[in-house]
Parts: sequence; structure tokens; C-alpha cells
Amino acid sequence: MTFLFNSDAARGQIFRDTFAREIPDLPFSMDPTTVDPDEVRYLMTWTVPENLARYRNLEVLFSTGAGIDQFSAASVPDDVKIVRMVEEGIVRMMQEYVVLGVLSLHRNLPAYLQQQQAEVWKVLPQAQAGERHIGVLGLGSLGQAVLERLKPFGFPLSGWSRSAREIEGVRCFSGPAGLVAMLAETDVLICLLPLTDDTRGFLDAGLFSQLPRGAGLVHVGRGPQLDQEALLAALDSGHMSGAVIDVTDPEPLPPGHPFWHDARILLTPHIASITQPHTAARAVIDNIRRLRAGLDPIGLVDRQRGY
Ligand code: NDP
Ligand code: OXD
Repeated sequence: MTFLFNSDAARGQIFRDTFAREIPDLPFSMDPTTVDPDEVRYLMTWTVPENLARYRNLEVLFSTGAGIDQFSAASVPDDVKIVRMVEEGIVRMMQEYVVLGVLSLHRNLPAYLQQQQAEVWKVLPQAQAGERHIGVLGLGSLGQAVLERLKPFGFPLSGWSRSAREIEGVRCFSGPAGLVAMLAETDVLICLLPLTDDTRGFLDAGLFSQLPRGAGLVHVGRGPQLDQEALLAALDSGHMSGAVIDVTDPEPLPPGHPFWHDARILLTPHIASITQPHTAARAVIDNIRRLRAGLDPIGLVDRQRGY
């Protein structure tokens, strides 16, 4: 029974050391060319390798990241569990990024950066945090964590998910009617939905039109969830005031793409959150212990729902 690590060597070394210390009875390999494929029970990877079928006894496919949309479910045998990454490093970085994005839009950073370029010293009107409603799409491990981190600023907080949730200090909405109600009062919308058939193209003109005039967007889900032209149109019409975009379609954006030079958009290259190897290795080991005890791993993907 072997754990095969299919990612970069620097992170792999940290995994190897942590596995050797914490779970020494589980052989660990970073080399698919020397491993006995029949021994591989656990595979950790970002994308599904083309030769997955050679691991005939594979039980669990661990994603190196929180998202699993890069796996084509059809290429993974039905009896193989797919597990997304839930670890404190990803959570902490996402909290930092979303706070950065929300505060940037709240405090007019895109406009002040433009003013700096133009050597303009001008005070812009400033709403107070208590007047700025924040809405989060997706109340999973990351959506809930960013809401928790936003609490001390005093923004009224809301969140929307598929199933009904209760979170202290957060107005929780669910289902189609809940979405309409939340959007109507959301000044800064944060997207932390997984990419599925239901969420592809979700951030479109119809959705933007339901936000109050002047709303902003922090998009940290997945690029294909955003209709880029609809966002640009909403910014051009003044219906939306700015956006912080970490994920795009494609990645990277091609040269000359309008997002590169749009002063209303703060653009980053999919760095909101990055798996941290020390904490991730411990999270994976905890999951292996859970599996050995007959429990479901944390982050087990429901293959019907697609996340
Ligand atoms: P989870 O699976 O824990 O949570 C997903 C949430 O989205 C759940 O609350 C779920 O609802 C909700 N949801 C899913 N589909 C729908 C739908 N159709 N309608 C309404 N709600 C829906 O995911 P995480 O919080 O761990 O991660 C979210 C995403 O963040 C990842 O899939 C990835 O795409 C992105 N990400 C981006 C990173 C970056 O660097 N930019 C880094 C890491 C992740 P319910 O609670 O009812 O199941
Ligand atoms: C992830 C990501 O899914 O980095 O972890 O986007």
C-alpha cells in the first residue's frame, strides 16, 4: 500500500518528511516510474494523469487544491473517492485575500490608484462599514472562513448556499429565491462557489443587474463562472463600480485582454490562496487515519453534486 505524490519536488519533500515522521508504516513515493502501480492506494495530484488506469487498486484521489473541477470525473473510476484539499493554510490565505479585496473596494483603492497616476489629490465620498453590505456566494469551508474574518470590520454580512445554513452574525440565504433576496442588498459580492455545471457562467448580466447600483465584485471561485463581457458592460454603465479578479478564463489572460488595463479592475494571477505543504501534509495524514478508521475523509467530494 503506497501513497504516490504527483506534484512539485519542493512540496513533495515536505510531504515525504511529514509522512515519515507521522505515518511511517505508509510507503511514500514521488516517482511513478519506480513505484509498483498495484501498490498505489492513494494518489495526490492536481490533474488526473493520463495513465490513471494503471493504478488498478487506487482507492483515493487527493486533489492538491481546494477545487476539483480540473478532474474530469468521467476519467476517475466510480469506486475511487475524490477528496478536495481542506487545510488551514489555504483557508488563512483566502481570508487574507478576500479581506484585501473587500477593503480595497470599500476604500475606493482602484479610484485612488488612478488618481495617483494622474497626480490628482482628491478626497472621494466614503461609506462607513456599517452601511456596506457584503454577500458571499458559497458557504463552504472557504466562504464561512472569510465571513468569520470579515466580522470585526462591522460590515453587515450575508451568505448564500445551496442548502440552508445557520451562521452566527451572518444572514444566510439559500435556493433561487434566497439568491434574489441577497443580491438586492449586496454592495460587495464575493464568489466562492465551486465550478460545476450549475455555476458555469453564474456571474452574468442578469445577476449583476440584481445588485444595487455601484456594487463591487471579488471573484475568487473559478474563471469560467464569470461572463467577462457582462462585467465590463456593468462597469461601463456605472451599474458596478469595481472588481477584484483572481481567476479568469483562460489563465493566463491573453495579451491585450481588456482586464489587463482596466483601472476599475484589480487583477491577480490566481494567487488568492495556495496549498501550504506543512499543513496540507498533516491534513492528508489525518484523512488517511480517518479512512483507516472507516470514516469519510474531510473534503470528500459528492460526485453527483460535482463538488
Ligand atoms: P466547499 O465545497 O466547501 O463549498 C462550496 C459551497 O458552495 C457550499 O456552501 C455549497 O452549498 C455552495 N454551492 C455549490 N454549488 C452551489 C449552487 N449551485 N448553488 C448554491 N450554492 C452552491 O468549497 P470551498 O469553500 O472549499 O471552495 C470553494 C471554491 O473556491 C473551490 O471550489 C475553488 O474553485 C475556489 N478556490 C479558489 C482559490 C483561489 O486561489 N482563487 C483557492 C482555493 C479555492 P452547500 O453548502 O449547500 O453544499
Ligand atoms: C485551489 C486553487 O483550488 O488554488 O486550491 O484554486
